[in-house]
Amino acid sequence: SLKLLQEDQTKGDYSANKGQETCNVSETSANENKRTKGSNETIPDKAKNSAGISNTLKAGLENKNIAKNEPAKPVVNIPVNRRKEVQESRLKLPIIGEEQIIMETINENPVVVICGETGSGKTTQVPQFLYEAGYAHGKGIIGVTEPRRVAAISMSKRVAMEMNLSERVVSYQIRYEGNVTDETKIKFMTDGVLLKEIQKDFLLTRYNVIIIDEAHERSMYTDILIGLLSRIVPFRHKRGNPLKLVIMSATLRVEDFTENNRLFRETPPVLKIDSRQFPVTIHFNRRTPQDSYLHEAYRKICKIHRMLPEGGILVFVTGQQEVHTLCRKLKKTFPINKTESSTQEKRKESRRKLDKNRERAVLPNINLDNYSVAPVDEEADEEALDSDLDLEENEPEEDIDCKDVESSDAGSCTEPLYMLPLYSLLPSHKQARVFEDVPSGYRLCVVSTNVSETSLTIPNIKYVVDTGKVKTKFYDKVTGVSTFKITWISQAAANQRAGRAGRVGPGHCYRLYSSAVFNEFEKFSPAEITRRPVDDLVLQMKDMNIDKVVNFPYPTAPDVEQIEAAERLLVSLGALSAPEKIQRFRDLKKGFVHKITTLGHAMACFPVSPRYAKMLALGQQHDLLPYVVAIVSALSVQEIFVENFKPSSEENEKEEFTKKLEHMKAVKKLWAGTGHSLLLGDLMVLLKTVGACEYEGCTPKFCQKYGVRMKAMKEVRKLRAQLTNAVNSVIPNANICIDPKMKPPTDLQAKLLRQIVLAGLGDHVASRYPDVIPETSDGSEKKMKNAYQCPDLEEPVFIHPTSVLYKEKPHFVVYQNIVETSKLYMKGLVAIEPEWLPVFAPSHCMFSKPLDEPAPSFDEVKGEVMCHMNSTFGNCSWTLPAVELE
Ligand code: CDP
Ligand code: MG
Repeated sequence: SLKLLQEDQTKGDYSANKGQETCNVSETSANENKRTKGSNETIPDKAKNSAGISNTLKAGLENKNIAKNEPAKPVVNIPVNRRKEVQESRLKLPIIGEEQIIMETINENPVVVICGETGSGKTTQVPQFLYEAGYAHGKGIIGVTEPRRVAAISMSKRVAMEMNLSERVVSYQIRYEGNVTDETKIKFMTDGVLLKEIQKDFLLTRYNVIIIDEAHERSMYTDILIGLLSRIVPFRHKRGNPLKLVIMSATLRVEDFTENNRLFRETPPVLKIDSRQFPVTIHFNRRTPQDSYLHEAYRKICKIHRMLPEGGILVFVTGQQEVHTLCRKLKKTFPINKTESSTQEKRKESRRKLDKNRERAVLPNINLDNYSVAPVDEEADEEALDSDLDLEENEPEEDIDCKDVESSDAGSCTEPLYMLPLYSLLPSHKQARVFEDVPSGYRLCVVSTNVSETSLTIPNIKYVVDTGKVKTKFYDKVTGVSTFKITWISQAAANQRAGRAGRVGPGHCYRLYSSAVFNEFEKFSPAEITRRPVDDLVLQMKDMNIDKVVNFPYPTAPDVEQIEAAERLLVSLGALSAPEKIQRFRDLKKGFVHKITTLGHAMACFPVSPRYAKMLALGQQHDLLPYVVAIVSALSVQEIFVENFKPSSEENEKEEFTKKLEHMKAVKKLWAGTGHSLLLGDLMVLLKTVGACEYEGCTPKFCQKYGVRMKAMKEVRKLRAQLTNAVNSVIPNANICIDPKMKPPTDLQAKLLRQIVLAGLGDHVASRYPDVIPETSDGSEKKMKNAYQCPDLEEPVFIHPTSVLYKEKPHFVVYQNIVETSKLYMKGLVAIEPEWLPVFAPSHCMFSKPLDEPAPSFDEVKGEVMCHMNSTFGNCSWTLPAVELE
């Protein structure tokens, strides 16, 4: 099966359906497929006619040459016992009237694209149609992929509820958790989860249908899945066990999937669901405000609330911090009434008591010697209980200027606003509030990031306030340096946002920018794959024996440059082996390919970045594995500490936050310890945090005490459990477990851990500039004090002030990542010794004389890192590319 992908894909010469195969599943014509509805379900005749079907659809249906040969599933009618209310609300969805056409098209075609406005019912209804048509009957199930975890969970729950089935039957699987059982018939999952499954079972034999949802978002894994499925589908067809592929998109821009001759041999039919979208009046600002868009949004909401008739408001801002700031501001301006606040007060009180009791129950047994350093803090407050200060996409947050909002903007309105925050990392029970009824007498106001642009549909929104902004992570394609930038959205995104106002009746969209600015927007947002490093992707593809990743049928191909950088990194980590005689990566284009090594296969089994996977693969000595697992789990979850969370500009909060930071600094310093422990730097702090969390329990109290984000910590624990299993199955005789009383590493262990970290982060080395102040080319003096130099970067980099090595300033460090704010800052630092470089990062060194022996292979290194260092490399002289050392 893997061969399929290696054939020359540019010619489209893969074994797609050529019509010659005979299949043992009976052909079913469209007419035979007409289904009778279950008795509990009646669809008005009006809805059944095909008036709503677009020309695209008709054109697609005329494409009979696919239909002829597609062996359809025998139709079995599986009754579903829906509740009356559910049935009634389903009938209001535009997609319900199109069920017959959708099912006929799917029956007759291997690949179908369904486009429909957000809220038209694609995600919740299409899996149900398929279920009822027997696609999960007997062997094989229906799989639905979502780019966002929120959607996978909430949609599986919603569909289970609508179908009146248990969550054992309609289930979900995301990276760390799921409720899939042997009874599961409809499985919602993140796209990454399905990609992992393809690695284990290339033909996806468990599935009869795969629905790729939210394809318009163009997430990297979604794109790759579509590329892989374009090969799997014809192959399954050939085997007489067809797999149906349904691609669902909220926009009509599907040419990248349909008109891409490297993907599908036959253009798949495109079904357009005409939704009952009410007209939305667009109001542009006359001028685009120069000052804070948040300020502008605040003013606009106040105005709407004061002057316009009832109807919910939905505001789009860029990040979680902004969501909270705006919510807080509006809550203050339009406070909720006394009874409400007193219930909150009571809830708070009872939680406090609960916490106190818990503490009493636990404290006597705890020996805090190992980890605990801080005095027990005051009672956890509401904020800490919810210490889900998760950042949208984990971005670092900047201060938001909202203090200059005059209270006069609020006008005289005293009617309360029912404020709800919404962002993807908000705990799901809180997210679910937007679907609940609004208390009477209130106006709903949802402050959201772009999650509600397409993934979630909020009922009863009449007014949309669009800041026109989005926060996007940008990577330098080669160095991997990441920055978050707030940019203008695309025109397509602006129209999606506006559309949210027309779901229940005519609505209004207030764009806080001018029409001239809008005209300058990009038409569409770019595909994710073109914007980020692809090293993890390349490793996974190589693990599937897709050697020529350049030739993969991407819906949108990444730059060759990006692929080269990824292959270079993977070669340096030992995951790929350079074929003999390759001198330059330019040779790649001439048809040379890097093959995956044994180490590479092992690394691909770990669901973490290849750099961290390397650390895991090297950890099997001196009982280091449990520590490496803990460190890697923590490194893989971003923003563990709340130190990047900046409070609003209000004085008392600022003060409190400063206090908290001081306290955290002290904790970190103590945890870092001395000797090799201190030199393990920020990673030692992470390790201790993980250990302490296991020791004391991941409670709100613990998180409050150490300034840790609860949600991040929970994720770390799940990942740690997952990695422990993975390590046990991949590394022979590893036999590790999670010890709740894990002792801190010894000095020797800490030293070895530093070496292992270097082996993974060998391309992230920085050396301190000498304290002299060098002259720049224009003759001016450049202040280089405390500056570091990285081989890949021209500009100097600095240690981030939150690092425990900030004051230490070691000569050589490796860093987890560099973020660009006012300067380039390194985060996640470990001090290393320069003489380790040729052993643990040989491919990043330039040797001034040839080595006597080749660099050690993984198998050699595995048990004997230290020994190699002394024998083979003890006396060699070498230089780092940019730094002269001897
Ligand atoms: O996928 P698409 O955007 O086309 O629509 P959907 O997610 O299937 O949603 C269909 C309808 O179900 C929407 O009108 C939502 O308001 C509603 N829905 C809901 O009320 N609660 C949920 N948890 C999910 C959807
Ligand atoms: Mg959807």
